[in-house]
Amino acid sequence: MFSVYEVIKKKRDAFELSDDEIKFMIDGFVKEEIPDYQMAAFLMAVFFRGMSGREAMVLTECMVNSGDRVDLSAIKGFKVDKHSTGGVGDTTSLVLNPLVAACGGIVAKMTGRGLGHTGGTVDKLESIPGFKVELPKERFIENVNKIHLALISQTQDLAPADKKIYALRDATATVDSIPLIAGSIMSKKLAAGADGIVLDVKTGSGAFMEKYEDAIELAKTMVEIGELSGRKMVALITSMEEPLGYAIGNAIEVKEAIQTLKGEGPKDLEELCVNLGANMLLISGVVATVDEGKEKMRNAIKDGSGLNKLKQMVEAQDGNPEAIDKPNELLPKAKEEIPVLSPKDGFVEKINALEVGLAAKALGAGREKKEDVIDLGVGIYLKKKVGDPVKKDEPLAIFHSSDKKRHEEAKKRFLAAYKIGDKKVPSPKLIFAKVDKNGVEEY
Ligand code: URA
Ligand code: CA
Repeated sequence: MFSVYEVIKKKRDAFELSDDEIKFMIDGFVKEEIPDYQMAAFLMAVFFRGMSGREAMVLTECMVNSGDRVDLSAIKGFKVDKHSTGGVGDTTSLVLNPLVAACGGIVAKMTGRGLGHTGGTVDKLESIPGFKVELPKERFIENVNKIHLALISQTQDLAPADKKIYALRDATATVDSIPLIAGSIMSKKLAAGADGIVLDVKTGSGAFMEKYEDAIELAKTMVEIGELSGRKMVALITSMEEPLGYAIGNAIEVKEAIQTLKGEGPKDLEELCVNLGANMLLISGVVATVDEGKEKMRNAIKDGSGLNKLKQMVEAQDGNPEAIDKPNELLPKAKEEIPVLSPKDGFVEKINALEVGLAAKALGAGREKKEDVIDLGVGIYLKKKVGDPVKKDEPLAIFHSSDKKRHEEAKKRFLAAYKIGDKKVPSPKLIFAKVDKNGVEEY
């Protein structure tokens, strides 16, 4: 038996903890044998002293073991998953997963609804008429075995220890610790059951990790945790300097995903999906090199097989596949489309992605609390991105809006997010580096 005091002191004094000491702390906290004040002190010690890769892995395993594990063993083949550390208007899942499945990868994804500027992927999919995000386990497995793709909402209790610890971190200024973030994210991913995981670690003004060096460190820690747990891992470090694509919302992001699957979408979104997907295919053993994977992904856009895969999934989950052919008619719409005009002439120099996300949330596209209802039709469609010239009174964006009262607040936030200068700046670089078990490769 250990003493809580001694374990806190050991970490405070920068010694490496044993597996059993970490397990003792996590299990004790979950069972409420260790009070909040001692756990808070422990978390602060971790915040200042950090953790070794092995310590972070053991922490993660303990959090996984606190809850359910999704059992995907009835699905044949290598199951691959993607996780993004969170961006604004990130439509990737809706584009990427159908493309990967069309290229021979296997995607069996259970995902949370989450809190954010917009809904999560399953919320977005719910804007398709009839689409069921809740399927019995047997049907989920049957669908994946048949068409290699299913996206459903999470019903099991994954990593409850993380929920409890996160709440305490949130109240004690210990959220932004790299081993704690890595453990938190990876505990949920490992519990979700995939054999391989590609991480999209965002950096920039709209990201959790604003600084590039921190994003690299977080990626390295998560890759190490995953590999030590027997999963195949790749992380890409990508830009969240401005929102991805043009659409930020739910139904409007589904529409953007459809356009991208047709090769008519925003190039930044397409490029990111091609790169993430190529790495998913690589770790799945479908291709031998990233370049081969990229070519396969691009072909699945050109020949329409990615779009067709999305349609198959919609049909397999009781949605109306016609909505994919006629999104303008069959997806939910906001009451009004109102342009937001540029206050002056110039060039878009910066867009604070986080503020744009908050503007979309203010319009009603996201949730504040778990119980909140999302207005699936509302959102923001950008007309100007970084580097674009703009004239006074030309639209910077179109607000898809259903509530006048919400509109004013959102507009104020949105305009404050745009910096319009005199000189043309290049559009921001999209992919900075790749991290895998062999190390960091910068692009
Ligand atoms: N996202 C998570 O799931 N956990 C963290 O600690 C930070 C971001
Ligand atoms: Ca988007």
